[in-house]
Amino acid sequence: MTAPKKLHIRTWGCQMNVHDSERMEAALSAGGWQVTDRAEEADLVLLNTCHIREKAAEKVYSELGRLKPLKAARPGMLIGVAGCVAQAEGAEIMRRQPAVDLVVGPQSYHRLPELIARAARGEAAVDTEFPAEDKFDHLPRPRGGRRQPAAFLTVQEGCDKFCAFCVVPYTRGAEVSRPAARVIAEARDLVARGAVEITLLGQNVNAYRDPDGVTLAALIRRLAGIEGLARIRYTTSHPNDMDDELIALHAEEPKLMPYLHLPVQSGSDRILRAMNRRHTAADYLRLIARIRAARPDIAISGDFIVGFPGETEADFEDTLALVRAVGYAQAFSFRYSPRPGTPAADRPPLPAEVAADRLARLQALLADQQRSFLQSMVGRTMPVLFEKAGREAGQVVGRSPWLHPVVVAGPGALIGAIRPVAVTAAQPHSLAGRLAA
Ligand code: SAH
Ligand code: SF4
Ligand code: F3S
Repeated sequence: MTAPKKLHIRTWGCQMNVHDSERMEAALSAGGWQVTDRAEEADLVLLNTCHIREKAAEKVYSELGRLKPLKAARPGMLIGVAGCVAQAEGAEIMRRQPAVDLVVGPQSYHRLPELIARAARGEAAVDTEFPAEDKFDHLPRPRGGRRQPAAFLTVQEGCDKFCAFCVVPYTRGAEVSRPAARVIAEARDLVARGAVEITLLGQNVNAYRDPDGVTLAALIRRLAGIEGLARIRYTTSHPNDMDDELIALHAEEPKLMPYLHLPVQSGSDRILRAMNRRHTAADYLRLIARIRAARPDIAISGDFIVGFPGETEADFEDTLALVRAVGYAQAFSFRYSPRPGTPAADRPPLPAEVAADRLARLQALLADQQRSFLQSMVGRTMPVLFEKAGREAGQVVGRSPWLHPVVVAGPGALIGAIRPVAVTAAQPHSLAGRLAA
């Protein structure tokens, strides 16, 4: 008998990529591969990549450079590139780095076994199509092993919004929603295997509309009927798809957690127009007010880009003003990175030091808001879903309804349970507490 072949996957980018990697691991494990966390003993190294900013895309080539000598020392080792760089660059990756044996785009993962076999025979193995079939129908969930109290479930992929800076509509393709019946069956299966919380994933998750017209709100309502499923989240949403039904659901459905990631990118109408966002700063603020009217304690999270071509100091101050008006619980902010093939790529860039200075100012403000949000939790008692053991012995870590990591002293047996926790202190990115009676 030959020893099982070993697989190593490295992942960059968003939660969608993290989830895709889990599914690729599960599918290949079912086919006899053994997962290893050491690239040097792997027979197949798969890099699941992100194309969103230049830095993210370039990391792939430096990683490939590191893998090359490993491959030279291990005859038969294969290197594959998956994810959004694979989709964006295709066979070009092999020209730039000949050590690469296979290239697979995000919608073709169910074809991996066939691609691996082709690559092993030394044949061309590039698949960057957008096939009609649903890859998830052919990618099993991991069987047995670790219980996962908080699981991801992809319900929608792709984007039709075409923001002027963004590669996602090109790398993930058009908006496609999975049929509600399939999503519900998958959710039931997750719950049967220990999931207590499910996060519905989509590049524009609130644009979800299945072939029968089921909306995200209707889908969540049906999922909330699953016994044993205690918490539902969804991410990422677009302001223009945040409809009344979904907003009302935040008031009505206790299983829907009080947290919303709603990127705005800029607070300047001029820049929002140049970004092709199709909403103004005032539209966004009105939306936030309606959401807060429905669910006053909701934590709002956002994404921001600073230094977009044409951004003046006054535009940037509009962004700071919007941030002050909203009060974010959490946020991600980035310096604009021109991406090949996007409409903004040819526009004259801002001086690097101007963009860097603005990013630092924005991040200081957002960090302040995040700190005061964390601080506001101290002294309160809240339900925490425990997910894993802590870094120190005798600790368990869970999540608050507002997505904060919460660390308490307690037994590992708590993993998978929701228990009240009295919060005693706020750390920079987490809360500390003790189990309450
Ligand atoms: N579909 C999601 C995720 C998009 S990518 C959404 O619409 O929010 C995540 C974030 O990366 C974006 O919200 C944006 O803030 C940032 N981003 C996208 N393209 C970028 C670019 N070219 N330069 C810098 N940041 C970018
Ligand atoms: Fe990118 Fe805009 Fe689509 Fe989000 S909505 S994925 S930022 S194009
Ligand atoms: Fe990156 Fe692709 Fe996600 S570009 S952010 S991995 S959709």
